[in-house]
Amino acid sequence: SPLPPPSDSRDGIPVIDVTGAPTDTPLLQSIELARQYGPAFVQRRQGQDSLFVSGLELVTELSDEQRFSKAVGPSLESVREFAHDGLFTAYSDEPNWAKAHDILMPAFALGSMRTYHPVMLRVARRLIEAWDRRCAAGTPVDVPDDMTRMTLDTIGLAGFGFDFGSFTRDEPHPFVDSLVRCLYWAMTRQSRNPGVDYTETDTAFRADADFMASVVDEVIAARTAPGAVPPENEDLLGLMLGATHPSDGTTLDRANIRDQVITFLIAGHETTSGTLSFALYNLVKHPAALRLVQREVDELWGDDPDPEPTFEDIGRLRYTHQVLNETLRLFPPAAGFARQARHDTVLGGIPMRAGQWAAVLTPMLHRDPVWGDNPELFDPSRFAPEAEAARSPHAFKPFGTGERACIGRQFALHEATMLLGMLVHRYRLLDHADYRMRIKQTLTIKPEGFTLGLARRTTAD
Ligand code: HEM
Repeated sequence: SPLPPPSDSRDGIPVIDVTGAPTDTPLLQSIELARQYGPAFVQRRQGQDSLFVSGLELVTELSDEQRFSKAVGPSLESVREFAHDGLFTAYSDEPNWAKAHDILMPAFALGSMRTYHPVMLRVARRLIEAWDRRCAAGTPVDVPDDMTRMTLDTIGLAGFGFDFGSFTRDEPHPFVDSLVRCLYWAMTRQSRNPGVDYTETDTAFRADADFMASVVDEVIAARTAPGAVPPENEDLLGLMLGATHPSDGTTLDRANIRDQVITFLIAGHETTSGTLSFALYNLVKHPAALRLVQREVDELWGDDPDPEPTFEDIGRLRYTHQVLNETLRLFPPAAGFARQARHDTVLGGIPMRAGQWAAVLTPMLHRDPVWGDNPELFDPSRFAPEAEAARSPHAFKPFGTGERACIGRQFALHEATMLLGMLVHRYRLLDHADYRMRIKQTLTIKPEGFTLGLARRTTAD
């Protein structure tokens, strides 16, 4: 539905009532409002006001940890219905947040990626085997589906020693279907139509949430069963089952471990798979950038058809990493985060009471004038070291901010850089359907219906 004009103004900020414009892509709607009304506006839906901000100065203020902290906004409040006080959805003052954070942090330091590297490589090879078959048969690949298979298997195996076996199935693992429906339920819950009965929707949601919990119980049971062989390297599950908190010596309780496993299975794969899908889209649409990535991987792996990327190799793929950053700028898959005032304060002239929150609209922060005159242009040189050093760190927030920023950032970047490098080294990517971007939002965003044709590269390519 067309967007209405502002109906009101609050402290000089336009208020737009979108109650009459229901949508199943709320993000795109808010982006449209930001394009029309600028770096701060209030979106009103059924009498509930949300302040959206996207200007660099406002986000710089919101990133001040002394004045603001993470807010669990309305959609995360709904995700709490199935992830409770897991790391992502916990309130910062809930005891399990600090406890799980302290226990799990060491597992996400850069050095720990060395431990996950072999598993990531193993799963990357599963994807390559599947793509080789498609390539030989001359059939295109469904990019977001296969990236999701890869990232789910990686977090399952690396985090919990559990094999989802996604590449041996024609359809995604049923956990993924339930998860996608739960996220969609959470996302659309606050824009419900007051005249409609949602009992059936809610019952279906409960069934999906229960199913996800049962899958996780299976993952935990596989580890704790008598005679279960512990993994060679300590993983997230091992840490949670065994490690005690450095200061009080207690462990996480079983209910919380289940919530953490659900949290990591969700947070650990949806966003990375979106990033990889958007990155392949950007490369196929920008042959000059693609050639630079190819040159970089060819320098490392030559024309070896089956290179064995080492842990150190991934750090050397600097330009590939720039491509991923530029992708995260244009299409941040977790497209927003919310911040609440610790005390009564004023945000760029807008008075805020303690506890009041504002949502950062990351895709529009990433198009702020600080990014130059043509922010829509895909240009990985924006992340060359000199360019990065010259720019405010608050201009780029795909992983959120502060102590509640993404714990899995290094994990995601290591996994994505390796896979992207391997794919570009091996295949020519063919935009066989002249794909036009269509964004699908299920809380996170992905390119809907994006398929690619593939051909093996030869030394002449
Ligand atoms: C938090 C984005 C990959 C685990 C966050 C937040 C963002 C984010 C924006 C902060 C949300 C907020 O402030 O409300 C991303 C992106 C990823 C990615 C764009 C991929 C490119 C991962 C991976 C894992 C992970 C691979 C785990 C292996 C988490 C967890 C939190 C989090 C547990 C909550 C941390 C806390 O509050 O203590 N992520 N993430 N993420 N992410 Fe990620």
